[in-house]
Amino acid sequence: METIGSKSPPAGLIAGTPDGFAAAKAAGARIVMVTAYDTWSARLLADSPVDCILVGDSAMMVVHGEKDTLGATPELMAMHTRAVSRGAPGKFIVADMPFLAARKGETHALECAAMLLRSGAHAVKIEGAQGHTHVVRHLVESGIPVMGHLGLTPQWVRGLGGFKVQARDAAGAGQLREDASALEQAGVFALVLECIPQGLAREVTAMLRIPTIGIGAGAGCDGQVLVLHDMLGLNPGFKARFARTFADGAALVRGGAARFAEAVRGGEFPSEGEGF
Ligand code: KIV
Repeated sequence: METIGSKSPPAGLIAGTPDGFAAAKAAGARIVMVTAYDTWSARLLADSPVDCILVGDSAMMVVHGEKDTLGATPELMAMHTRAVSRGAPGKFIVADMPFLAARKGETHALECAAMLLRSGAHAVKIEGAQGHTHVVRHLVESGIPVMGHLGLTPQWVRGLGGFKVQARDAAGAGQLREDASALEQAGVFALVLECIPQGLAREVTAMLRIPTIGIGAGAGCDGQVLVLHDMLGLNPGFKARFARTFADGAALVRGGAARFAEAVRGGEFPSEGEGF
């Protein structure tokens, strides 16, 4: 039997439509998602083989320097989404519905999602399930593709008592299975599983028809997502077990700044040819 990830996704399998996510799962092709918040990084990702870009509310932490994501607003998410969409018009873009945007009723959620789609998102991501699956269903029935997000849902950080691995006990695991099924029934096209035990993530992935995209949830998911700054080593000081660094971006930035300063102080920059 073929294992998940044994094939590369055919080019363009995901781009443009949520159906591509189901097709990827059916083909056993792993989905690759990375966050972005601005035009320059989106431009670089546009030429990369990642399948889709998440404009995450993690922007509050990695871009704006806050300690959690609660400060994100619909307007701020729309601004970041517009910037990303200008940089990567050909990529499938998912934008996070910010803190409480799905908890103030269907109309509020619809207006927020509309703002994000008008800003260039192809879909929105909503954290959690209990108490707002009807909102998810309403958005889906209104033609708005919705990605779910369970496990460690950072917008619940106060209630969870911190950024902690979730669903470790039988009750938590049972609730997560129930929430995952409820979201699938409400019509989400994919589900992010964040910081849950690997065995549970594998089980939920096998249970669902829609693909799961893991972060800190092991290799048994249908895809993986990383925060851009973690992937590129641009978040010095942050170390999480699941966040592998794939490039030494911090060294690149510090090295470039040091070479610039040295060239200026040494009178070597700008040269004749770099002036008018
Ligand atoms: O905001 C974000 O970046 C996210 C990912 C960690 C899944 O939700």
